[in-house]
Amino acid sequence: MLQEKQIVIGVCGGIAAYKVCDLVRMLKKAGAQCFCMMTSSAQEFITPLTLSTLTGQKTVCGMFEQNKDWEVEHISWAKRADVLVLVPATANVIGKINAGIADDFVTTTVMATKAPVLIAPAMNTNMFENPITQRNIAQLSELGYHFTMPDEGFLACGDTGRGRLAETERIFEDIVRLCTPQDLAGKSVLVTAGPTREAVDPVRFLTNHSTGKMGYAIARAAARRGAEVTLVSGPVSLPAPYGVRVEQVESACQMRDAVIQSAPKMDLIIKSAAVADFRPAHVADQKLKKNQLPEIQLEKNPDILQELGQMKLSAVLVGFAMETEDLEQRAKEKMERKGLHMIVANNLKVEGAGFGTDTNVVTVFSKDGSVKRFPKLEKTALADEILTMAKEWIVR
Ligand code: C5P
Repeated sequence: MLQEKQIVIGVCGGIAAYKVCDLVRMLKKAGAQCFCMMTSSAQEFITPLTLSTLTGQKTVCGMFEQNKDWEVEHISWAKRADVLVLVPATANVIGKINAGIADDFVTTTVMATKAPVLIAPAMNTNMFENPITQRNIAQLSELGYHFTMPDEGFLACGDTGRGRLAETERIFEDIVRLCTPQDLAGKSVLVTAGPTREAVDPVRFLTNHSTGKMGYAIARAAARRGAEVTLVSGPVSLPAPYGVRVEQVESACQMRDAVIQSAPKMDLIIKSAAVADFRPAHVADQKLKKNQLPEIQLEKNPDILQELGQMKLSAVLVGFAMETEDLEQRAKEKMERKGLHMIVANNLKVEGAGFGTDTNVVTVFSKDGSVKRFPKLEKTALADEILTMAKEWIVR
């Protein structure tokens, strides 16, 4: 995701400085190379050695260090950055940058870079709410500096309020977005994911093995590419992807209502949910007794995708087909019957495909007759491939 990206991190003097360690770990796991620079007060909280050990790179603290390379280092760091992040950013450093002051390695590098700069402030509530800080943030935002705004909560100084450094995941996601081409900016995307639950009685339900991994990966990838994403999700145990509006539903009928309601606003609808085809015709009011073997009569659930296909929407429609036999023929037939632009077909019996796995093996059929077969891919990578193919239909 961040392969070959160079992230320059400016660490300022706040107690949240220790959280940079976790951020570096996440960035490195995603394939980025990290370079840390510290203000002198940052070194009162964590040591350059801590950061160098984590990044595998030297950490620069001063403008005039003796053991530097021959190059003008703050300029080379400013140039190498794909994104420059200030975390935690103090009121002092934010103020200096807004005033055009460049008097140490961190502020000079910020001044010299043309890369996107992401600022994650962390400070006492009163300092954060001070009109000077607020003005500095507003002016820097207007100049194109990006912010991951602080959370509310318990602060190290004992106060409670706004000023706590944003969760590391949130800062990480903002970095990822700044490194990702925003080719879906301005597009509204609806994704469905997970299984549905069809109640038998107040205790029991019918469902399937879907875990929602594929749909959640698509929703996250679309949001990272700049889309406005709504995720209608059946019950799963995955965390909501950052920056995605999640609507939780249980049954197929609830999913239908949620999807049909937002469908007209969408540019792209991807239905990766494993919607139950049937539901019990009658839901018992009381728990069914075990000494009396019940007969469960089933009735058909609405076919949401088919209904969407008949709605003559402007949205591009993408469906999924999971089969255990005659995959291609059934997938193509489904694409036609449901009026889809594309269908992503996978065979549950193929190793690495289907429910619960982190990978999938799919073939994508498009309504213009083209067929694209993918090798076994991580669902995260496949999500991007599907979006790239679907995007072509949006612009057509
Ligand atoms: O016909 P089948 O259920 O196999 O088609 C699968 C595709 O249709 C998936 O994209 C699934 O999300 C969608 N679907 C639906 N409503 C249903 C059943 C499936 O939208 N009731």
